[in-house]
Amino acid sequence: MTTRELGNLEVPAIGFGAMVLSPGVYGDIDDERATTALTAALDAGATHVDTSDAYGADGHNERLVGKVIKGRRDEVVVATKFGLALLDGEPARSVPVGYAFNELRVNGEGRLVRTYAERSLRNLGIDAIDLYYAHYPDPGVAIEETVGAMASLVKDGLVKHIGLSNVTASQLRRAHAVHPIAAVQNEWSMWRPVDADLLAAARELGVGLVAWSPLGNGFLTGTVQGVGEGDFRRNAPRFSSENLSANNDRYAPVRTLAAELGVTPAQLALAWLLHQDPHVVAIPGSRTPAHIEENIAAADITLHADTLARIDQALGKFEALGGTLL
Ligand SMILES: NC(=O)c1ccc[n+]([C@@H]2O[C@H](COP(=O)([O-])OP(=O)(O)OC[C@H]3O[C@@H](n4cnc5c(N)ncnc54)[C@H](OP(=O)(O)O)[C@@H]3O)[C@@H](O)[C@H]2O)c1
Repeated sequence: MTTRELGNLEVPAIGFGAMVLSPGVYGDIDDERATTALTAALDAGATHVDTSDAYGADGHNERLVGKVIKGRRDEVVVATKFGLALLDGEPARSVPVGYAFNELRVNGEGRLVRTYAERSLRNLGIDAIDLYYAHYPDPGVAIEETVGAMASLVKDGLVKHIGLSNVTASQLRRAHAVHPIAAVQNEWSMWRPVDADLLAAARELGVGLVAWSPLGNGFLTGTVQGVGEGDFRRNAPRFSSENLSANNDRYAPVRTLAAELGVTPAQLALAWLLHQDPHVVAIPGSRTPAHIEENIAAADITLHADTLARIDQALGKFEALGGTLL
C-alpha cells in the first residue's frame, strides 16, 4: 500500500482502527473473530494499528493487539493512547460528549504519564510504543505538562513519536512548542468536517492527521439501517431511527456517485479523505475481512478534480443530524 508521513513516521495510507475488536462497542465480538480480523488487516497491509488503553475492559484491546502482533512486531506501527482509562484512586475531570454513554473522564497529569505508558507496554507486550497519543486534553491540566511528560518517554526510548487526539489548533500549537507532534487524531469524515484552523496549524507545523471514524461509525458505508442492542451507536443521536433515516436520505447523492464511479460508498468515503491532504491517513475499523480488503483497496483510488468537486457539491453542507460524538 502507498505510505504517508505523520511527522517523521511513515504509515500506510489506510490503517486499522482496533476499537471495533472489543466487546461492547459495535455489539458483541469474541477474541477469535477479533484475531481473524486484525490478522487479515495486517496481511493486507493495514499495518498501522490504532488502539487505546480505554478500548475494552481492563486493557482488553491492547492485550488482543499484543497477542496478534507477537512474532510480527517489525511489520506493525503500534499506536495507542492514554488518559481515559484511569489509574486506581486518581482524580479525573469530565469531558463533554455528544452521546448518552458512560461519562467520559480524563486525567492527563504529567506525574501519571509514565505509569500509563508502562501499563500499555505490558498489555501490548512490546518495548516501545511507535505513536503515543494523549487521548483527550485534560481541562484541568496544561497541555504543556502532559506533553512534557510524554517527551521524557521519548527521551527514555519508551515512545517513538508523540500524538494528540481530540485537540484544537491552539492546543496543538502549544504542545508542538514543547516537543514535535507527529500526528493529531480527530474525527474527520464526509459527515464531520475537520476544523479549518486545526488543519491549517497541522500543515504549517508538519503534523500528520489521523482521521478517526472515517466511515462515520459505519454510516458512510450506506449499509446501516438500524443498530442493535449492545452497540454504542444506540446511544448516539446521529443513529436514532429518525436521524438515521434522514441522514441516509441526505446522503443518497453520494451513494449514487459511488455507484457511478464503480466503487463502494465506503471506498469513496476513504478515498475522498485521502484526497483532502497528503498527510491525512484513515483508520477504519472492521470485524469483517471482506470489508477490510474493500477498505484497503480505497488507497488505490484516484479521484480527479472534477469528481472531487461533484462530491463536494453532493455533500453540500452535509453534516450528521444528531450532533457530534466528541
Ligand atoms: N481518538 C478518538 O477519540 C477515537 C474515537 C473513535 C474512534 N477512534 C479510532 O477510529 C477507529 C475507527 O473508528 P470507528 O470504528 O468508530 O468507526 P468507522 O471506522 O468509521 O466505522 C466502523 C464501522 O463500519 C463498519 N464497516 C467498516 N468497513 C465497512 C465496509 N467496507 N462495509 C460496510 N461496513 C463497514 C464496521 O462494521 P463491520 O465490523 O461489520 O465491518 C463498523 O461497524 C477506531 O477503531 C479507533 O481506533 C478514535
